[in-house]
Amino acid sequence: MAAGTFSEIRGWAAMKPGMQAEPWSYTPRPLGSRDVEIKIEFSGICGSDIHLIRNDWGFSQYPQIAGHEIVGKVVAKGPGVKHFELGDTVGVGAIGAYTILGKYPDGVSSQGGFAEAVRVHEHFASKIPAAIDPAHAPPLMCAGVTVFAPMVKNGVKRGDRVGVVGIGGLGHLAIQFAAALGAEVVAISHSPSKREQCMELGVTQFVDTSNREEAEALRKSLDFLFVCSTAGAEKYNEFITWMACESQIVILGLPSEPLKVYPGELVFSGTSISGSQIGGLSMTRKTLEFAAKHNIRPMIERFPIAKINEAMEHVESGKVRYRAVLEL
Ligand SMILES: NC(=O)c1ccc[n+]([C@@H]2O[C@H](COP(=O)([O-])OP(=O)(O)OC[C@H]3O[C@@H](n4cnc5c(N)ncnc54)[C@H](OP(=O)(O)O)[C@@H]3O)[C@@H](O)[C@H]2O)c1
Ligand SMILES: [Zn+2]
Repeated sequence: MAAGTFSEIRGWAAMKPGMQAEPWSYTPRPLGSRDVEIKIEFSGICGSDIHLIRNDWGFSQYPQIAGHEIVGKVVAKGPGVKHFELGDTVGVGAIGAYTILGKYPDGVSSQGGFAEAVRVHEHFASKIPAAIDPAHAPPLMCAGVTVFAPMVKNGVKRGDRVGVVGIGGLGHLAIQFAAALGAEVVAISHSPSKREQCMELGVTQFVDTSNREEAEALRKSLDFLFVCSTAGAEKYNEFITWMACESQIVILGLPSEPLKVYPGELVFSGTSISGSQIGGLSMTRKTLEFAAKHNIRPMIERFPIAKINEAMEHVESGKVRYRAVLEL
């Protein structure tokens, strides 16, 4: 068995449900034959990390080092690693079986990216294309693939009218991916201050949901709606009124309340509602390639890891434009 560089990995963990992370370290699992050890350089804070540390979904485990938009350099590898060399810049998303919330065969919980290092099977690491600045790569590892995968699966194409609700980490990337696929994109937001930046990111229309006239003018106009908001479970009946015949709403955001939908609203418009979780590893790599080719760039605010609690507060309160990235 190869030795890793880190005998103990220092990170920032939530010790109980809430919005606080504090220094905490753990002994990593032995470096397996096909494991890579990654010295983390940048880690994005996803809306799901906030749900997770607050225990919004009811299955968090503590201590928990969250973080599943991980980018760094390979500093050690097992003898069986085939695809990576020491020094490669790689990314790891949420699906390292799982990067967070997982359990290894010995029952030990996996820990995530708000830490100096992580060990994963090489299968779960992806090379970051040279055209993408490593600081901008983390949001593509979860938010990017989460929005791009259902666009590919559902065949979003040139000329489609695509709405994106909730312009945060996911939403600001959804706008860019849909525009790059040739769609006419409508950003739908409860934050009027985002109007100008959304226009710069390629939308043809910005709808401020607090302006009833603007929201009602969306009536029956969208072929697709990607719901990226952290909140808004009670808004689906209104969303359906915006949908054209035989259109699709794709749920990406994960509020903890149930959706309430009148069946007639769906039946009479022929609108379907589906959900979509992240995307597989080959889709993650396609997302990175597509982003590199079409110059899709996450807009980030950088925070040193020591300011993790301030960064998480900015994410939770909606101050971040549009993804907080921690520097390790
Ligand atoms: N499906 C999946 O596999 C998957 C993957 C990753 C994340 N997610 C989920 O997707 C959601 C968004 O994640 P994210 O990383 O994009 O989060 P984020 O950066 O915090 O963005 C969330 C956006 O939701 C909107 N929002 C509406 N009402 C809000 C409220 N009361 N409080 C806060 N925000 C509100 C805001 O957009 P406006 O200001 O424009 O209204 C905000 O920018 C989360 O629920 C997350 O768990 C799902
Ligand atoms: Zn995520």
